[in-house]
Amino acid sequence: MSSSINLIFNNPISPSTHLQRRRHHPFRYLKNAHFPTPLGCLNVDVSAPEEAAASSKVIQKGNVAAGKTKEIIDDEKRVLVGTYARVPIVLSHGKGCKLYDVEGKEYLDLMSGIAVNALGHGDPDWQRAIVEQADTLTHVSNIYYSVPQVELAKRLVDRSFADRVFFTNSGTEANEAAIKFARKFQRSSHPGENEPPMEFIAFSNCFHGRTMGALALTSKEHYRLPFEPVMPGVNFLEYGDIQAAVDLIHSGRIAAVFVEPIQGEGGIYSATKEFLQALRTACDTAGSLLVFDEVQCGLGRAGYLWAHERYDVYPDIMTLAKPLAGGLPIGAVLVSERVASAIEFGDHGSTFAGSPLVCSAATVVLDKISEASFLASVTKKGQYFKELLTKNLGKNPHVKEIRGLGLIIGMELDVSASPLVDACRQSGLLVLTAGKGNVVRLVPPLIISEQELEIAADILLDCIKVLDE
Ligand SMILES: Cc1ncc(COP(=O)(O)O)c(C=O)c1O
Repeated sequence: MSSSINLIFNNPISPSTHLQRRRHHPFRYLKNAHFPTPLGCLNVDVSAPEEAAASSKVIQKGNVAAGKTKEIIDDEKRVLVGTYARVPIVLSHGKGCKLYDVEGKEYLDLMSGIAVNALGHGDPDWQRAIVEQADTLTHVSNIYYSVPQVELAKRLVDRSFADRVFFTNSGTEANEAAIKFARKFQRSSHPGENEPPMEFIAFSNCFHGRTMGALALTSKEHYRLPFEPVMPGVNFLEYGDIQAAVDLIHSGRIAAVFVEPIQGEGGIYSATKEFLQALRTACDTAGSLLVFDEVQCGLGRAGYLWAHERYDVYPDIMTLAKPLAGGLPIGAVLVSERVASAIEFGDHGSTFAGSPLVCSAATVVLDKISEASFLASVTKKGQYFKELLTKNLGKNPHVKEIRGLGLIIGMELDVSASPLVDACRQSGLLVLTAGKGNVVRLVPPLIISEQELEIAADILLDCIKVLDE
């Protein structure tokens, strides 16, 4: 298979050559990684400018037109705020599951812009919807009604537990809205009380976003501490600790429990049915709301339209974002009628959210993903990929576990995943890390073929040797 890797990816430098060059790489695990590795939302591995420049020099060595890459990286460093430890490649275009950089190098995309491009790059129906809508009406604000927003909301309501939808522009904003809705719900459920339940529960390894409320719900202190004080009243419990959760919910202080049915950034950990069911029962007893954050695991990624369908446990609120508009910015908060009835005019809003353009794109994405045959194909390909990975890599001493559901798969290592991720990239495969940086996160476009998954598994097998160097 490795010869086909070169053929298919038109890689100017063979994987083995790349691996050889990497052997002389001076930076190793536990020292400062030379290449910033894509960590998705956990991306805090901010390289100093000199390191990034050194990275771009490596690119220069390996590619003829490397000047273009360096030029853009240098410009970026001058004019953008340095929040991202970007990988030193400049992507220019994509088609299906392939991406191309400005040097003409081809990559197989197993990260989908951090679990966003569910239909891959340039899906023709999605493209057509955007072009036609842009030609008709792009933005009107939420002062007016518009047909695509209502059409998308109708579909979301028809295909979920929810009765109503509120649109946002991102995952963090969806969680921010869910926080406000939960507090408003508790205020109106406890009229006249001075201290209605206003606290929240979130869990170890969770990620809910970067804005002040969602950040307060995000477990990793590293993200929160520099920005304190964040929203008070968040209690972090162990993901899966039923007793601790039930006890705290029964205290009567909890407005809502935020939980990812499958944790993405945290390292691809799936909840158990018992855990989610216990949360549901305790919330019902205490009057707390159960919020499922399906920003990463929802919308077909787990082989179910909603990941929670696997557990047959239903929330009061669900937040969505990443794949919903196939790469355009969107978020959504799906709520039951009793939650919606606590929300009044003016309680929340957004200038951009739910625009005709974005909602037209999202309608195409939702319609395609909702097809039973599409969801079945995600399950089948996910199983096949997990089997392949287990067969190819499962016996490698560095591989501790291969886990996940559908096409959200994690390969946990006993060391940092960064050298492997870097080697894969140099061999034409884009993957992410997760967890504490020790998990390779595989979240390909949901349209990926079995052949492409085989190629990815081959590259991973080829590259894992780097962990022994
Ligand atoms: C589960 C979950 N919630 C919320 C977010 C935040 O989404 P966004 O980056 O669109 O704000 C993310 C991002 O990775 C996520 O994985």
